[in-house]
Amino acid sequence: MMNFGTETTTAAMTNAIFLLYSNPAILQKLSLERYNVVPADTIPTYDKVSRFPYLRACIEEPRRVSPARSFGLPIIVPKGGKEIAGRLPEGVIVSVPTYSLLRGGVVLKDASEYIPNRWLTDDLEEKKKMLNNHMSFSTGPRACIGRNIAYFEQTVVIATIVKVFGGKLNDGFQPETQEQFNSNPGELLMGITRRLF
Ligand code: HEM
Repeated sequence: MMNFGTETTTAAMTNAIFLLYSNPAILQKLSLERYNVVPADTIPTYDKVSRFPYLRACIEEPRRVSPARSFGLPIIVPKGGKEIAGRLPEGVIVSVPTYSLLRGGVVLKDASEYIPNRWLTDDLEEKKKMLNNHMSFSTGPRACIGRNIAYFEQTVVIATIVKVFGGKLNDGFQPETQEQFNSNPGELLMGITRRLF
């Protein structure tokens, strides 16, 4: 619980902030989305911003291109075997290759590119396929039990940072990720300034 509840959320938010502040047009579009709804001198609350489609897109897309867990925990096929992409006998160890699935081009075009707009598609079939393939919280009975908390935190924190702070990544900054139990991004080196309301 300690690991899954902290490092994953930290990674998801660090990656989201990095991608936003290195793509000014996307940051600008996200900033515009909340202008009419959140009064100038207040902090966004969850009920105000949770249904913003572009904010949601800017939360989903970094979790897809830079998932906080790049592989699934090893799980042992139970007694009697199991049908998982073919029949697997009991005792075999399986795991979900999250990073490869999320960046593989089977479902998405330009799958390794950061394109939040792709989540705004009106094509319901395409959206369904994207969601079925979006395994950043894993899938099945052992999937993440904290995903609603994670959505809550990401929604409020990212909406607040974007509203309150302008920022610029340090010149030449290159993100680094350490592959450990999770994929942990290193420090985000950037200057921030308080926006004038
Ligand atoms: C963006 C944030 C998060 C991401 C990307 C994430 C991702 C995941 C993934 C991929 C798994 C499945 C592990 C596997 O089988 O390989 C998982 C499991 C789990 N997560 Fe999360 N998680 C996040 C936030 C949280 C939070 C906030 C909590 C708790 C407050 C939490 C609690 C757990 C627990 C307890 C499990 C183990 C569930 C089980 O084995 O039945 N997670 N998480």
